Amino acid sequence: MSSSVTSRPTALYGGQAGRRVTVRDIAAAKERGERWPMVTAYDAMTARIFDEAGIPVLLVGDSAAMVVYGYDSTLPVSVDDLMPLTAAVVRGSSRAMVVADLPFGSYQASPQQALETAVRFMKEAGAHAVKLEGGRRVLPQVEALVSAGIPVMAHLGLTPQSVNVFGGYRVQGRGQSGDELMADAKDLEAAGAFSVVLECVPAELAERVTTSLSIPTIGIGAGPSTDAQVLVWQDLMGLTERPAKFVKKYFNLAQEMDQAVRAFADEVTAGAFPTPEHTYH
Ligand code: KIV
Repeated sequence: MSSSVTSRPTALYGGQAGRRVTVRDIAAAKERGERWPMVTAYDAMTARIFDEAGIPVLLVGDSAAMVVYGYDSTLPVSVDDLMPLTAAVVRGSSRAMVVADLPFGSYQASPQQALETAVRFMKEAGAHAVKLEGGRRVLPQVEALVSAGIPVMAHLGLTPQSVNVFGGYRVQGRGQSGDELMADAKDLEAAGAFSVVLECVPAELAERVTTSLSIPTIGIGAGPSTDAQVLVWQDLMGLTERPAKFVKKYFNLAQEMDQAVRAFADEVTAGAFPTPEHTYH
C-alpha cells in the first residue's frame, strides 16, 4: 500500500490535522451521511498506527479482558486494569477521540458510582469519552455523566458484560425484543448519549435504529447500514483463533508473527544472528 493511502485522514477530521476529533465532528458526520471506522486499541504503538491511518475514534474496550489479559469473558477486568491501557492509547495518538469502556461493576450500582469511575478515566487516563453497556436501566447513569460534561457512547444488543443473562454470545433483538432495543436506543439518545454501539443484532433492526436516531450508530455484527463500524483490532488483523461470523480478517498477523519468530529462533540456534550488521564494536 502506498503511504498516501495509509496516511489519509478520514473526512471526519474536516481536513484539519493537529486537533482531536470531537463529538461535534461525529454529529456532523451523521448529518452529512458520512460513514466512519472505529477500532479498539490497548497500547501506544498500535494506537499511533491507527491514529496515523486516520481512524477517528479509538475504543479502549473491556475486550482487553480477553485480548490483553487472557480471561474468557470481559467480566473480570477492573478499572485499574484498563486505566494504564487508556493512558497509553491517549499518549500514542494525537487526532483520534479516545473512548474508555467502563468495566463490569464500575457503573451499574448508581449514577454516583458511574460518575466516579468516568471521572477517573477522564482525569487520570486522559480519555475523551466513556462507553457503557445497557439500555433504560442505565439512563440515570448516562444523564449523570452527560450533565457532568462527559460524552457517553452507549452499547446495546449483545452487551458482553451480560453474557450470563443471555446464556452465551448470541444474536439479540430478534422478534419483539427488537422493539425494546429501539425504545432503549431512543431513550439513550434523549438522555444525551452521543452515539450507540449495536452489537450482534439483525441488520434490518440496525437499519431501523440508524434511520430513527439523530446520533450515529456503530455496528459490530449489525449489518451494513449503521453509520460506523467497529472491530477489535486483533480480530481484523487475524490474531484471533476463532473469530465471530461478523469479523472480516484483513491480514494474517498470527501467521506472519509465527513465521518471524520461528526465523529468529532458527537463526539464534544456528548462530546466524546477530551478524556484524547488528553488532557494536
Ligand atoms: O470492548 C469492546 O471491544 C467493545 C467493542 C467490541 C464494541 O465493546
